[in-house]
Amino acid sequence: MRILVLGGGWFLGPAVVAGAVTRGWDVTTFTRGRSGIALPGATAVHGDRERPDDLARLADEYGPWDAVIDTSASALSSRDVLAGARALELVANRYVYVSTVAVYEGWPTEPLSTDSAVWEALVRVDQELEQPPGATSGINPVYGRRKAGTERAVTDTFGLARTSLLRPGVLLGPGEYVGRLPWWLHRAERGGRILAPGDPSRSVQPVDVRDVAVFALDQALRVGHQVHNLAAPIGRETMGGLLQACVDTTGSSGTLVWVQDDVLLRHGLRQWTELPLWWTHPGTSAIDATSAVEAGFVSRPLTETVADTWAWLRSGNKPVPHRRWEKHGLDPDKERAVLASAG
Ligand SMILES: NC(=O)c1ccc[n+]([C@@H]2O[C@H](COP(=O)([O-])OP(=O)(O)OC[C@H]3O[C@@H](n4cnc5c(N)ncnc54)[C@H](OP(=O)(O)O)[C@@H]3O)[C@@H](O)[C@H]2O)c1
Repeated sequence: MRILVLGGGWFLGPAVVAGAVTRGWDVTTFTRGRSGIALPGATAVHGDRERPDDLARLADEYGPWDAVIDTSASALSSRDVLAGARALELVANRYVYVSTVAVYEGWPTEPLSTDSAVWEALVRVDQELEQPPGATSGINPVYGRRKAGTERAVTDTFGLARTSLLRPGVLLGPGEYVGRLPWWLHRAERGGRILAPGDPSRSVQPVDVRDVAVFALDQALRVGHQVHNLAAPIGRETMGGLLQACVDTTGSSGTLVWVQDDVLLRHGLRQWTELPLWWTHPGTSAIDATSAVEAGFVSRPLTETVADTWAWLRSGNKPVPHRRWEKHGLDPDKERAVLASAG
């Protein structure tokens, strides 16, 4: 099996590459080469997906492949994904595209299944990824529409029968550069009174990046059109379980102090980023991933993801420097002020 991994420099990409190499597959990666992470066993090609010449060189000099696994389109426009798909269509049999649950119109306010309505594809949306300044809801109005456009770019070019669309919720695990779980682990390690947001029994559905990688590789072997949501089973994991795992894993002497949503919202705390993974929207933890499970998707327990992410942070690995990291986490003075007001 010969595969092309678009991405591979950080987070999901390396997990896909490591899994493919373990299976004995022949792997080519395509990145700009900025992260500098070495990927043993893979042929690393450097170029920019936004440059047609680089894509043409990739196809001409390194193809053909049995499948493309696209892990690097979180910030690309649909125009660029379309150009990439067209460049690869004659040199790859199948396209496995890692998309997101944000393509659904109802995300994150309604329960979701693969039958839920998807945003109309916008072919040219190039705005910033992050939520608008001043917004506290954590909802990014642009990302989902843009990803819907990128899905469309892939299916229009490869045809439905040669395409897998994978729609994960939030990804956590070793290599996370965003600053969600790493922030909570470092906060737990610091100890003291730890502001824990909302209701400890609130359901959360993160998926481990390594489980998504395994499933993406399996999808490279599939035939026909495949569309799957990827999330932990509804109701299996909770915010309380996640934060307690952070306390236990780090050996923290800290105490979780649960503060209700309305208090946090009154203080203007930004959901999702200032308190990572805290979201009050009811659809956040109602993602139905049944079709993926039926197709073989296995989601490991969140405690394992927490422990392995801590081990990764402690082993001297540094997350790839990324502007999103700076946007995550709560200032200690602000945390103290909120805790004091909450009593
Ligand atoms: N993170 C989450 O919680 C989450 C949740 C749902 C879905 N997703 C989806 O999962 C996928 C993977 O996300 P991710 O956060 O692991 O990675 P990502 O930020 O989408 O991609 C990172 C990789 O892409 C390469 N890359 C970026 N721009 C490039 C360009 N113009 N040309 C060539 N290579 C480029 C980077 O290497 P270089 O910098 O070296 O080029 C790096 O290897 C994305 O499609 C994302 O939308 C993520």
